[in-house]
Amino acid sequence: MCGIVGYIGEKQAFPILIEGLKKLEYRGYDSAGVALVKDQGELNVYKTTGKVANLETLVDGKDIEGHVGIAHTRWATHGEPSVKNAHPHVSMDGNIAIVHNGIIENYQVLKQQLVDRGYMFNSTTDTEVLCQLIDYYYNNNGSNLLSAVCSALNDVIGAYAIVVTEKKNPHHLVAARQSSPLVVGVGKDKKEFFIASDATPIVEHTDKVVYLDDGQIADISINNGLHIVNHSNKQCQFDIKTVDMDISKLSKGGFDHFMLKEIYEQPNCLRDAMSGRLIANAEHPENNRIVLSALRDYRDRLVNARNIIILGCGTSWHAGLIGKQLIESMCRKRVSVEYASEFRYNNPVVDKDDVVIAISQSGETADTLAAIQLAKQHGALIFGIVNAVGSSIARETDTGIYLHVGPEIGVASTKAFTGQVAMLTLFALALGHETGTLSDSEYHKIIGELALIPTKMEKELEVTEKIANLAKMFTYAHNFLYLGRGFNYPVALEGALKLKEISYIHAEGYPAAEMKHGPIALVDQDMPIVFIATHHKLYEKIISNMQEVKSRKGRILAIVTEGDEHVREIADNVIEIPKTENCLVPLLSVVPLQILAYYVAVDKGLNVDMPRNLAKSVTVE
Ligand code: F6R
Repeated sequence: MCGIVGYIGEKQAFPILIEGLKKLEYRGYDSAGVALVKDQGELNVYKTTGKVANLETLVDGKDIEGHVGIAHTRWATHGEPSVKNAHPHVSMDGNIAIVHNGIIENYQVLKQQLVDRGYMFNSTTDTEVLCQLIDYYYNNNGSNLLSAVCSALNDVIGAYAIVVTEKKNPHHLVAARQSSPLVVGVGKDKKEFFIASDATPIVEHTDKVVYLDDGQIADISINNGLHIVNHSNKQCQFDIKTVDMDISKLSKGGFDHFMLKEIYEQPNCLRDAMSGRLIANAEHPENNRIVLSALRDYRDRLVNARNIIILGCGTSWHAGLIGKQLIESMCRKRVSVEYASEFRYNNPVVDKDDVVIAISQSGETADTLAAIQLAKQHGALIFGIVNAVGSSIARETDTGIYLHVGPEIGVASTKAFTGQVAMLTLFALALGHETGTLSDSEYHKIIGELALIPTKMEKELEVTEKIANLAKMFTYAHNFLYLGRGFNYPVALEGALKLKEISYIHAEGYPAAEMKHGPIALVDQDMPIVFIATHHKLYEKIISNMQEVKSRKGRILAIVTEGDEHVREIADNVIEIPKTENCLVPLLSVVPLQILAYYVAVDKGLNVDMPRNLAKSVTVE
């Protein structure tokens, strides 16, 4: 939520900031702004509603000189998207400018104190309150920006990543983090520094980064380089890490949208994710095996886990539901799947014999982070299934598996979901084999089949055009139902989420048999119903559910196993997917649903990669 970029160095800041904002736009895009500080101490601020492109248009012909600058793309929390509420916010005397990601929870109390001291406010944001508070300490504590930030942050309750600059000392930036991510890029000869919400805007300039920890404040100046202190202004040690990110993954690579590119990337993403971890030999399946260092390092705690609790939000929570079925069936352990946002406040039963699996693409979801911190206090082992390397959740976990599917830019998650499901499958296979609850023959067979999934996915992608044509028939719809059973029930939830996120069509996922307990009342000739009806032991039963819908004139689109004859007789349209093991079906059955959602949204003329009201990284609770 909200993207922050900062630059200080010998180059002109503006082009670096604007390119950085474009890479972070997935985090929020309702308004954007930039503040530039000239060497002689002049501060220019430009802000606009809408996307970063609007900011570029706004500054056309204006003074964009400055070697120091901060910039922001916003996802509104306090106050509507407007120029006044856009960041950067500037102190009343025009000296200090700030960009902020997060929420200052006690901003009303602080604001009242500042009003009593004579401060006036332009916006309705919590950020402006923080800006004036820093200004207050700056003017009352010897005009030192670093100490003013330390003092102000000691008064603040909430989550923040901030970057602050001032015009009186124009070669200086202060950045701080508490529960919202912030990365500092260290440029050549430590003569220039980049600050951003994640490493994506930084990697084209430098691969050397410092991930700020909670409670840390970075003091960066051209003359003195980078220093990190805590809230008491005491020096902290820090490590400069090297990031490994493929810049080509940050472009659309010829596709119309990141989402479509990411859907198409899935076969290769899975190959990358499984590489070195899944060893399969078609000629000698008895040698098939899974190698997970996390399982080796924490073998006893995993094998002896009393309960497994899976935490996540949104799509990651859906992957968790599939994980539950995989782990319960292969490892015979009790698994619960919890919304992180509920878990953290529900006084959950969790202790040192439990294992918590935290699933997160971004690794920055505030609720998931808080939930694992709580589970950690109770002594549980925290196992992360995370995509973003070095992210807050990754750093908070004891062990885990990175997805390695590359940066996901489209706001609607696609390749991260299949990556998460694949990693949960590896985990369940390895643990089930280690605990002895999964027979050798099943273990070898499923691994052999999992190795074929990327190629089968490629085959699925050959029918994209057919799905694109079908999508045209559904743009009229106001409601959709998605129904599935067993492993396909979470897929139904995920298909419905994809559609509603990007096409704004209301869609619900249900276990198919639940339909007659309520949702069937909605069914009429205008209601499209997507059945995920692949071959498994409940196949006959799902056909009965389909008949129930058909006799109420519902319009059925069915996802079926290739060669299926029965469903074809009932459904209005069918999409075939390749045959595979039942426990691996979600990896294939979700793909046509992603494509369907994508084309319905495109046909409705909507912005697929940046749907309204959403942001890629949900760093506020
Ligand atoms: C949906 C989507 C969201 C995220 C959720 C959790 O397409 O992307 O539902 O899955 O916000 O995000 P992460 O996985 O980053 O913790």
